[in-house]
Amino acid sequence: MRTPIPDYLTDLLDDLRDDHSGAVADYIPALGAADPELFAIALTTVDGRTYAVGDCDAEFSIQSMSKPFAYAAAIADRGERTVLDHVGVEPSGEAFNELSLEADTHRPKNPMINAGAITAHHLLVGPDATKDDRSARAVEFFSSLAGRPLTIDQQVLESELGAADRNLALAHMLRSYGVLRGDPHDIVAGYTAQCSISVTVRDIAMMTATLAAGGVHPATGERIVPRAIARQTLAVMAAAGMYDAAGSWFAEVGIPAKNGVSGGLLGALPGQVGIGSLSPRLDSHGSSVRGIRAFRRLSADMGLHLM
Ligand code: DON
Repeated sequence: MRTPIPDYLTDLLDDLRDDHSGAVADYIPALGAADPELFAIALTTVDGRTYAVGDCDAEFSIQSMSKPFAYAAAIADRGERTVLDHVGVEPSGEAFNELSLEADTHRPKNPMINAGAITAHHLLVGPDATKDDRSARAVEFFSSLAGRPLTIDQQVLESELGAADRNLALAHMLRSYGVLRGDPHDIVAGYTAQCSISVTVRDIAMMTATLAAGGVHPATGERIVPRAIARQTLAVMAAAGMYDAAGSWFAEVGIPAKNGVSGGLLGALPGQVGIGSLSPRLDSHGSSVRGIRAFRRLSADMGLHLM
């Protein structure tokens, strides 16, 4: 018997499976070893129904898809005013690993680029938090969104820490401007642990659906964050989640989204659904090639464009 949504999603993956363009990220050695053929998509509606197809139980590191969730946690922990004092909400129009500071305040332009995400991570818990406090907070918060205990992939973490020169440089610059307080090495280590949390597309769809549901967990009905935090997070994703492709993405696909170098892509439609996909080959903006095509199709076929 055919069932409309799962069959639609299976057909979607089958249609795109032969696209082998792009390349797996290799600046983090452990990511270069990913199976490039993995392909999965999951949708979770705000009332808690999940549809998942393909390699939907494959685990991969969350990478930059952690950024919106850590931003939400930073606001929950420190308040919106403190977070805005440290990191802006403007699109940078530049690649994810550029410094992209505001000329007058020296704040990173937004929390979706690395400089802004390192800054948001360092605000977690409180001013006196240690590296372990902050990474534990990320694990605990992401687990509450996913509805299951998540863990850090130590192999990815170690591999990424061995190749963290660029993020260390960003953190040192941020400290020189007084944006970061504390040891840049500790802060980058905690941020890298946050990026190394293992997830599946099912987790990503559930976590994202919690934001789409205004901060209420779709499966348990528990309020995880206040509605205002979910709205702020989705707004920043819409403006800057796709880095230097944010404008063309929003014009074409119309879904607030966030990509990650492990090949994940997440999208949230407020009041409707959270979407997660995985396919490790990336384009020049660091986004999954087949993931982008899947989202384009979903947006067009299901009328998901917000405008
Ligand atoms: O900081 C980094 O470079 C990685 N942990 C995350 C970068 C990332 O996922 C960029 N997004 N496409």
